[in-house]
Amino acid sequence: MSLWNKHQVFEKNSFVLLVGILVMVAIGGLVEIAPLFYLKSTIEKTEGMRPYTPLELAGRDIYIREGCYLCHSQMVRPMRDEMERYGHFSLAAESMYDHPFQWGSKRTGPDLARVGGKYSDEWHVEHLQDPRSLVPASIMPGYPFLSENKLNTRDIQSALSVNTIVGVPYTDEQVANAASDILGQATPDTEAADGFEERYPGVAIRDFDGNPKVVTEMDALVAYLQVLGTMVDFSIYDDKANAR
Ligand code: HEC
Repeated sequence: MSLWNKHQVFEKNSFVLLVGILVMVAIGGLVEIAPLFYLKSTIEKTEGMRPYTPLELAGRDIYIREGCYLCHSQMVRPMRDEMERYGHFSLAAESMYDHPFQWGSKRTGPDLARVGGKYSDEWHVEHLQDPRSLVPASIMPGYPFLSENKLNTRDIQSALSVNTIVGVPYTDEQVANAASDILGQATPDTEAADGFEERYPGVAIRDFDGNPKVVTEMDALVAYLQVLGTMVDFSIYDDKANAR
């Protein structure tokens, strides 16, 4: 019996074939899965990525609360039409501190993964208060109450500390000062702002909603929108690509 004839054993006996298939699939599975147990992280470390500041994190919670994700995705796919419209495709590392991530699955409005820095703070405030004042054909609802609502800072410390449990590297000092850092990021030239600058070096400190007297939900949401997609400096990567 030649080697090829021995294969008849598999072809004529369905149970042997089944066991054979299981063995083959198990080998394939092990080859794919086993290395993952030895990797510390499957996400490539990327320069510039940092955890959200407490104000940005609070803004993100408002984004989720108001259901912005029902109309907006946050994921630029690596296809030419998307990249020409929105910019560099999204990297896994860019949502590594998002719990849960906001990739979304619906685009009634445009993708927001790279909206940070595209418009001024004033534009965002006006647009969120009354979208049709800036984009007459917009079907986005207005959220004028965000400018009235004082931002609740009671839960922010727990929010940061829960994020550390799922792996976001906030320091103990950042967790302990979360509420004061909210105030610090939104009110320049104060003691709180100095503390904030120490804990989050290089992060923009300004009044986001045009009302310096109180920190509102609008401050938080605009701070969040303005940081989306801006942490990684893609000019470094593009220069490398062009040099090739
Ligand atoms: C019913 C669907 C819907 C919801 C809900 C919605 N939007 Fe929009 N959004 C749109 C549409 C449509 C546009 C495009 C027209 C415009 O600019 O108003 C848009 C535009 C935007 C833009 C401008 C994007 C760009 O690149 O020009 C931003 C920023 C934005 N939305 C933020 C938000 C935020 C924040 C929320 C939640 C508070 C939200 N949207 C909720 C539909 C929605």
